[in-house]
Amino acid sequence: MRSDIIDFLQNEIRERCEKETNFFGMGCYYHIQAVVKNAAFLAEKYGADVEVVTIAAWLHDIASITDYSLYADHHIYGAQMSEEFLDRFDYDKIELVKKCVLNHRGSKPNVKRSIEEICVADADAVSHFDSVPSLLYLAYVKRKLGIAEGIEFVRSKLERSFNKLSEKSKRLYADKYSEVMRVIG
Ligand SMILES: [Fe+2]
Ligand SMILES: [Fe+2]
Repeated sequence: MRSDIIDFLQNEIRERCEKETNFFGMGCYYHIQAVVKNAAFLAEKYGADVEVVTIAAWLHDIASITDYSLYADHHIYGAQMSEEFLDRFDYDKIELVKKCVLNHRGSKPNVKRSIEEICVADADAVSHFDSVPSLLYLAYVKRKLGIAEGIEFVRSKLERSFNKLSEKSKRLYADKYSEVMRVIG
């Protein structure tokens, strides 16, 4: 494990999340932490490269937390930024990390994805099940929605997240998903 890279990224991402200019607030840091944890878990389970998946999970939303204007294409900018970071560390699996970042939002159907890409994309989607408070914060504080609209916003976000999962992750997280939905009401 390249702990030099992982330690650096953890610090760098925390600092970027703490900045006033980060539109998403610290909730985004907790989201990224949850993605790292879930991605490493899935990588072990599915036999993927845990190091690549962990590094890509730290980097997957780097563009959005750095500059909100990059949000719409943050997967593309994020892949470029990942390359710049990892070049400095002379890392040999940059291309695979870039693919994980580029395709973390779920790629087009029929495109065959590596198991590492699937781990990061699935971990991103399931992290919402662990961070419902962040979604509520986004709904009620950032977007200033009413109670009913907020519930609808959170429910549809969770529903889309579940539908994005690979088939095997759908089976793995089916119970957790229905529990979370039951709590939201
Ligand atoms: Fe993202
Ligand atoms: Fe994300």
